[in-house]
Amino acid sequence: MAKAKTAYVCTDCGASYPKWQGQCEACSAWNTLNEIVIEPASSSKGASRHSNWAGMPEQARVTPLGQVKQESETRLSTGIGELDRVLGGGLVSGSVVLVGGDPGIGKSTLLLQAITAMAPQFPGLYVTGEESLSQVAGRAQRLGLGVDGVSALAETCVERILTQAAAAKPRLVVADSIQTLWSELLTAAPGSVSQVRESAAKLVRFAKETGTAVFLVGHVTKEGGIAGPRVLEHMVDAVLYFEGEAGSRFRLLRAFKNRFGAVNELGVFAMGDKGLREVANPSAIFLSGSRVPQPGSAVMVTREGTRPLMVEVQALVDQSPLANPRRVALGLEQNRLAMLLAVLHRHGGVGVFDQDVFVNVVGGIRVQETAADLPVLLAVLSSLRDRPLAEKTVAFGEVGLSGELRPIPNGEERLKEAATHGFRRAIVPKANAPKSGRVGELEVLGVERLSEAMDHAAN
Ligand code: TYD
Ligand code: MG
Repeated sequence: MAKAKTAYVCTDCGASYPKWQGQCEACSAWNTLNEIVIEPASSSKGASRHSNWAGMPEQARVTPLGQVKQESETRLSTGIGELDRVLGGGLVSGSVVLVGGDPGIGKSTLLLQAITAMAPQFPGLYVTGEESLSQVAGRAQRLGLGVDGVSALAETCVERILTQAAAAKPRLVVADSIQTLWSELLTAAPGSVSQVRESAAKLVRFAKETGTAVFLVGHVTKEGGIAGPRVLEHMVDAVLYFEGEAGSRFRLLRAFKNRFGAVNELGVFAMGDKGLREVANPSAIFLSGSRVPQPGSAVMVTREGTRPLMVEVQALVDQSPLANPRRVALGLEQNRLAMLLAVLHRHGGVGVFDQDVFVNVVGGIRVQETAADLPVLLAVLSSLRDRPLAEKTVAFGEVGLSGELRPIPNGEERLKEAATHGFRRAIVPKANAPKSGRVGELEVLGVERLSEAMDHAAN
């Protein structure tokens, strides 16, 4: 294939150079020049921006929104319920989904399980740039996956991959990983920003033109961004992150962006010797094993996406040797913790200004809602006094700056979840409590002020 015309463009100021150089002469920035394709090698074939995929007219026309014909999106079930949930109810044909995560977290395993589960209905092509074909086949065999309808390809040149894929006509392509792919149009090394971007762009175009669903695997750098360009996140339809705590066998799959569904939906898996297993009842795993109440521990019901989830909030309050005692929040917002401690002092009459305060949400869960306010303060209080909260007690609610408890959404559903898990007492904002004061076996104490909640928690 003839070389395409490329240029080196500064990502800061946009100046363009025919050759790579370390510093941009226009803005003096270092290492900002990226190779980009300015003209495809052959002037030919639909590859240009004006191509006619999806049957769109060549000339775009202004159309009243009400008259736009809606194409119903086809959802393919991946055969893995938790993955379908995070995708918003299945994989959309012609969509491109980026699956990010640390090396070794289980991305290849998850996608191999998905592609084999889908294959009887939707033939799939597994493109591997990291492992050999026999490694992939070996893993499928070891996990006992049926491989009918799944093909594999060990190739890293994106043009050759697309030629093969166009011939094989799969409904699903998995590209593992995007960092190993490279395009003939560029001279930059595989894994570089321009190669990753160009390869992804080609795959996205292929997906839209042919209606093939594409999974891209991307390794996440320590900084949390997908290695290579963050720009990938803008090019694809959905970005899923696969996470897990070191040493834990549980894995969380989270939607970070989704054009076809809600984000914040959470999929929970456990890694075992037969690969990833779905965890149908995640509440159970995020409550620490021993249910004998410990000082500094409070249980709350949070919501992840569309379902309630029981999690444990732990606090450790300890005499501080520092002039500025530490406030550390893991899985919660740091500033919110500082604010809550101020409310605790002002309206609860308990000061912790000479204490270090550490708060952690068990299981690597991040709670971004204000429902955690009350359980955080109860855990802090319990640790400070070295007295556990009453057994089988759960709490949630937003704490306002004047010490009042504010209701949170979906209270009833949360209370039901707590009742299902055998909790006997719930301390919640008054407006979230049912009139009867009960949900099944669960006694619900509706309170209006923080001080009231503290009284209930103490006995
Ligand atoms: P992998 O899917 O290769 O991770 P990634 O593609 O994200 O880099 O998973 C690798 C890890 O998972 C590896 O450390 C071993 C573990 N694992 C199991 O514990 N059980 C299994 O059945 C499989 C396939 C992997
Ligand atoms: Mg892998």
